[in-house]
Amino acid sequence: MLYDDLFIRLERARWQLSEDIPFDAIDPSLVSEQWRSDLRHVCLTELSALYATEMFIRDFYADIDFCSFISVWFYEEMKHHLTLRMYLERLGETFEEQELPKLRLTFAPGPAIETLTMHFCGEQRLAHWYTAFSDNAPEPVIGKIFKILAADELRHAACYAKYMRKAAQNKPETVIDMLKMSLWMLRSTNEAPKHPTTLTTPSVVGQLEDAEYISRMLSWYLPGRDHEKPVQRRVLALMGELTGEKLESMRDLLRAIRRLEGTQTPAAA
Ligand SMILES: [Fe+2]
Ligand SMILES: [Fe+2]
Repeated sequence: MLYDDLFIRLERARWQLSEDIPFDAIDPSLVSEQWRSDLRHVCLTELSALYATEMFIRDFYADIDFCSFISVWFYEEMKHHLTLRMYLERLGETFEEQELPKLRLTFAPGPAIETLTMHFCGEQRLAHWYTAFSDNAPEPVIGKIFKILAADELRHAACYAKYMRKAAQNKPETVIDMLKMSLWMLRSTNEAPKHPTTLTTPSVVGQLEDAEYISRMLSWYLPGRDHEKPVQRRVLALMGELTGEKLESMRDLLRAIRRLEGTQTPAAA
């Protein structure tokens, strides 16, 4: 089981909420109303790990290895929610526990391979966003928090990649579904950013007071179209590995999909 090794690796990389975040050094005067509101939304979006976990455990019913890993992922994502909430509480913001169930969602069952791929791409993208939020943070402690969270999200992406490799090894015919979902996920814009929390109907972000907050933060901190290059590079690297060819652009990815479609469905053609 991949879980055994991932458990140890994630344990070694783990940071301590009570020791590694200098909550006493926070300077509330540096954090504008806009940042408070945006941080509040990021914090509530992290809570979506709760609904996603419910979905994973249901849709990966027979995959004990992956469900075991999800226990660690769930713990770490809820820790992100808690870290941001504790930061905001230090600024004097409050969260009503009774209000939180209103955000609760249940996702429709989905095909496991697509879900896995969507989350792999989503973690890569979130790491990219959090790095930008860290670089633009108005206050040093929240800058540090986003840097730490970005590293966690990247590690999560690496774990999802391991499960995708395992799936590809056990069922090579699933690779085409991974490629298709990756291409769809890579076709993302600041106006309609693709992440597991924005894609379902209804979506997690759609439940929030200000559903446009991600688009707005991206237009401020990651303007333009080319900023996604690092995300594309990392996704294409894994897809290239799975297909055994070098994929350097989304066009290459599309070509690989067409080629695989040609070899897998001659009857349909
Ligand atoms: Fe997270
Ligand atoms: Fe994550």
